[in-house]
Amino acid sequence: MTILSNGHLWKYSEFIVNKNYSFKKEQIFKSLSKKEIDDAYSKIKKWKGYSPTPLVNLNKLSKELNLKNIFYKDESKRFDLKSFKALGGAYAVEKISKGNKDIIVSTATAGNHGRSVAWGAKRLGLKCKIFISEFVSDARGQAMVNLGAEVIKVKGNYENSLIECIKQSTKNGWQIVQDVAWDNYLSVPKYTMAGYSVMMKEIVDQLNNNEITHIILQAGVGGMAGALIAGIARYLRCIPITIVVEPDSAACVLESIRSGKIEKIDIKRESLMGGMSCGEVSLVPWEILKNSVKYCISLPDDDIATTMKFLGNGSFSNKKIIAGENSAPGVISLIASCEDQKIKKELNLNSNSNVLVIGCEGDTDKEMYKKLVNQI
Ligand SMILES: Cc1ncc(COP(=O)(O)O)c(C=O)c1O
Repeated sequence: MTILSNGHLWKYSEFIVNKNYSFKKEQIFKSLSKKEIDDAYSKIKKWKGYSPTPLVNLNKLSKELNLKNIFYKDESKRFDLKSFKALGGAYAVEKISKGNKDIIVSTATAGNHGRSVAWGAKRLGLKCKIFISEFVSDARGQAMVNLGAEVIKVKGNYENSLIECIKQSTKNGWQIVQDVAWDNYLSVPKYTMAGYSVMMKEIVDQLNNNEITHIILQAGVGGMAGALIAGIARYLRCIPITIVVEPDSAACVLESIRSGKIEKIDIKRESLMGGMSCGEVSLVPWEILKNSVKYCISLPDDDIATTMKFLGNGSFSNKKIIAGENSAPGVISLIASCEDQKIKKELNLNSNSNVLVIGCEGDTDKEMYKKLVNQI
């Protein structure tokens, strides 16, 4: 019996087509320019400890799904931070500090972005203040303390922690390094996206002339998806089919693509995919995503733990991969799409397909990782 024919059904909730799809490189570069993308790569590649994260071939899974290749970008190996987020916040800290050692940086975070800012501040010898909501686990808070940051816990949700961060930073003259854009706060989120786009440069170098036909991108506020699409515009000649995946409880990109304008989601239940549990797409990525994402898909949490387990025990590839909760949805949406004949046909998934999925993180929360993979 094969892994996928053991009776397990891989679920998706919704699948939509973007009626405004039109991939225009020049339009994308208006939001994140070639120069911003190139600057980020030329700076980050010089960081101590930098090396490209692996591009793993999920050879067993592609055989079962009858696809040519499935490439998995394994961000569990990104510096010591085990997440692509390390590229964004830390790069933004470097950009705004401009070599000045006296500034204090601050941010609000659900975990991984703050870790990147704290790590970036430590790299440059800067003081750092991190605001977290009461829902952020102690383990995630402690990880930032270990990087030398002062961690301030705020009552309420992420939004409350951001409000408090802005209030205290304005009062004390701290420099806010946020990955989310708002009116008149666009440069720093752009720096974080420029940092993330380094992943696409590495992927292109690792592909050995294989042409990507499909890319599946997770979205929270859309920064990573927007950055990688800008990376596609910068580095690829053939434009792959672009698919955004989100938790069904927080499908803010899907809802915005459906209506053609930014829609705010009232999150009623926090997804296991914590980094993606965001109610509103950020302004800078939205300008990229609104026309250049072709399809959106949303998922329940049901298959997260199974997928983490299968990635971890070598069921999908010769290599065992440590994949956190936010790494699973690319693989889940691919399997679910292949099992649904209508979607498979619409996406043109077949034996010539080279699909790229992003393994955003490793076991960034070790306890959670153990709990999830052991429950299967
Ligand atoms: C750990 C983590 N945080 C956040 C996100 C979402 O990124 P963004 O908020 O930039 O869309 C992801 C991936 O989708 C992730 O893996």
